[in-house]
Amino acid sequence: MCGIVGYIGHREAFPIVLEGLKRLEYRGYDSAGIAVYNGEHIELCKTKGKVSDLEDKVKAEMNTSGTVAIGHTRWATHGVPNDVNSHPHYSNSGELVIIHNGIIENYASLKKELISRGYTFKSDTDTEVLINLIEDVQKNENVKLGKAVQIALNQVIGAYAIAVFDKKKPNEIVVAKLGSPLAIGVGENEFFIASDATPFLEYTKKAIYLEDEQMAIVRLKKGIKIRKIKTDSVVAPYVQELQMNLEQIVKGGYEHFMLKEIHEQPNAIKDTYRGRLNAKEGLIRMAGIDDNIERFLNANRIIIIACGTSWHAGLVAEYIFEDLARIPVEVEYASEFRYRNPVITENDVVIAISQSGETADTLAAIKLAKSKGAFVFGVCNVVGSSIARETHAGAYTHAGPEIGVASTKAFTTQITVLTLIALKLAKEKGSISHSNFHYHLQELELIPAKVEKALLQDDHIKKIADIYKDAKNCLYLGRGFNFPVALEGALKLKEISYIHAEGYPAAEMKHGPIALIDEHMPVFVIATKKGHYEKVVSNIEEIKARKGKIIGIVTEGDEAVKSIADHVIEVPETLESLSPLLTTIPLQLLSYHIAVLLERNVDQPRNLAKSVT
Ligand code: G6P
Repeated sequence: MCGIVGYIGHREAFPIVLEGLKRLEYRGYDSAGIAVYNGEHIELCKTKGKVSDLEDKVKAEMNTSGTVAIGHTRWATHGVPNDVNSHPHYSNSGELVIIHNGIIENYASLKKELISRGYTFKSDTDTEVLINLIEDVQKNENVKLGKAVQIALNQVIGAYAIAVFDKKKPNEIVVAKLGSPLAIGVGENEFFIASDATPFLEYTKKAIYLEDEQMAIVRLKKGIKIRKIKTDSVVAPYVQELQMNLEQIVKGGYEHFMLKEIHEQPNAIKDTYRGRLNAKEGLIRMAGIDDNIERFLNANRIIIIACGTSWHAGLVAEYIFEDLARIPVEVEYASEFRYRNPVITENDVVIAISQSGETADTLAAIKLAKSKGAFVFGVCNVVGSSIARETHAGAYTHAGPEIGVASTKAFTTQITVLTLIALKLAKEKGSISHSNFHYHLQELELIPAKVEKALLQDDHIKKIADIYKDAKNCLYLGRGFNFPVALEGALKLKEISYIHAEGYPAAEMKHGPIALIDEHMPVFVIATKKGHYEKVVSNIEEIKARKGKIIGIVTEGDEAVKSIADHVIEVPETLESLSPLLTTIPLQLLSYHIAVLLERNVDQPRNLAKSVT
């Protein structure tokens, strides 16, 4: 995610765009930039860092006067966060300038084509490719900016919300949207462009939300013309009256960032496999793996290092790698690993998982593994983070900024990336049959819609949360792929509700935890159809016999667990190896609602930090 802001009208544009960027920093904060048209030329300033860093740089370097401006706050996807990769980006002629939120998947082939036609590139971004493609179309086809944007976008695969300014046409800004949000604020002969309405709330309550595959030419005096990008048909603008306040919009209408991030998971998972997974053609493309495939295929074993929720994603990956790719895996707490004297050889591959990419223990464990000759691969969310830089290669999760301290979408997107890697290696090794490989790809593509469906249980889960909110202890049980989900479910509850909770492999219950069970003990059991179902049902019977309260996470249509449990929460059916992506969802929602009912500070729980550096 990135935030984009634009203004065209009669006021000084810079302060409006700068303030707007501050409000959109929740969408990304690794670099920022702004371009102002002063009536003669474009002034541009950009920098790595937060919007406040941009503000400092602008004071020293830039004349901010002008009534047209576009600005950007970035959460990097292509190219590390640095000054050059920050937006806005110029075209080669310097006449066009663009801001972009999204990912151009086919940027590499477009770039190659443009280079062959003499274009040069300063940055590593997909966005600079797009603006030069627009310029190329404009020149070759001799068309106006709007048409050039439209033709260029028809060649693009990916997601975007863009705003483009051409200094030859200073009375207009061209915007377009596919997959990323774009709102246009409509004032009195002035217009605002932004990722959401927060940047222009105090100027106008009138907004147009562009639909996917729509573009608009926003023109002073002449107003707004909306077209469909593919068909060129004209769309009548639908102007809405905004009712929301600022706080509500930043959180997308959700009460907390955590809830917003839980609900973002269908899109976040899609963003994770976007451009990597092609189920139709039976392909997985991941540059970090493709370029180092021999290291993985010749590995004696994979050692996964991580902390907290990322460690739980590592445990899920252990099951997936072993099951599909038949590679031995060990999962280590980075904080233990770094202080041991671990046996590591040059034939080991270490995978470090970290949302923030800054966790000190994980970073230290990576350095230790590297010093012993291991190949280290990073799975991070924050592009250009310390761990992303320290590792030999890696794959980003592309989940967008996670602001709630309790990790949610980071977990499911980490599992998604690790599943893609396992499937890719399984295919290369021949440890998975052709049909099973294809089946997995197809099922993985269906996961976002199934997560969406799992989220529909929210009201039902809230009622269950109300029943168990006063529990002093809770137990979470799961087997196989879902044992780590039990650990993660317990961690989520502890983190934000401060209720003591333990996660256990269901079969281990009889070696201790069963002594704790009485009528006051809620036990959350993951009992999906595939994966030791009968055995889990027996465990549930044992809990029932000791009067424990059972809340089953079951497959849609389940009957057996329903007949013995106190409550069940259904999730759609999927492959056993993919089931953690679904069973996690109700446990996140349960913790969330219990914490809200107990009036806890959900997004900033006591004693915890988002990143332990
Ligand atoms: C902290 C956070 C957890 C996170 C862990 C690892 O404890 O509160 O949510 O799972 O760090 O962080 P990382 O950024 O390395 O995934």
